Amino acid sequence: MTDTPIPVVSIDGPGASGKGTLARALAERLDWYCLDSGLAYRGLAWVLAHEHEGRIDEETVRRGLDNLRFEDVTKRWHLFLGSRDLTAELGGEDLGELASRVAARPEVRARLLPLQRACLRLPGLVAEGRDMGTVVFPEARLKVFLVASPEIRAERRWRQLSASGVRVNLDALTEAIRTRDRRDCGRETAPLRPAEGAFVLDSTERTVGELVTEVLDRLGGMGLPGGKNERT
Ligand code: DC
Repeated sequence: MTDTPIPVVSIDGPGASGKGTLARALAERLDWYCLDSGLAYRGLAWVLAHEHEGRIDEETVRRGLDNLRFEDVTKRWHLFLGSRDLTAELGGEDLGELASRVAARPEVRARLLPLQRACLRLPGLVAEGRDMGTVVFPEARLKVFLVASPEIRAERRWRQLSASGVRVNLDALTEAIRTRDRRDCGRETAPLRPAEGAFVLDSTERTVGELVTEVLDRLGGMGLPGGKNERT
């Protein structure tokens, strides 16, 4: 029996660097699956906030993780708690902050690893987060590390939140983003950093279309399915 390697493109980077937008656009172009791994950490944060008054300890974390899983919804992995699709409820800044705190716990990362690995499906997977290329999918054929200035990222997040009716102060948001960066980069387990061989893309002054084209060109250069060489 031959093992068909499932191609993975990993996109890692700090919050609001544009990973989600790039990953979705790329997965659509390639007709691959798309995983936003932050949903798992946010899902756990949601359970802790709603069922355990935000308490983070061994017991609440263990119980919180028990019923979480990813399910395929038209090739996008959604996060389910039992039979309830939580995905649309996981966007807020408070949950992001709590998620970043639980994400620093090694036992949380260990339990979420198989959930994420289970998202590996043919014809391929675009996976975005903080440790996709370093820990979860080290075999990824193409590894992207997406960056943007904290000011631009805060502005993007501010626009996203405003569009969904959430009012926040831009300076406070910039500071919250810096704090989260420090925690995500400074933790001992799976800190945010570029994977070996990753190429760094700066999204500060580029459109999603330009970023997608650059990634597709690189894929094509590697002869991967869906890359430039296979486009008409
Ligand atoms: O990308 P996001 O804002 O949805 O992620 C929320 C938090 O989850 C982030 O601050 C750190 C954590 N996270 C992680 O540690 N590893 C991942 N692969 C994805 C997210």
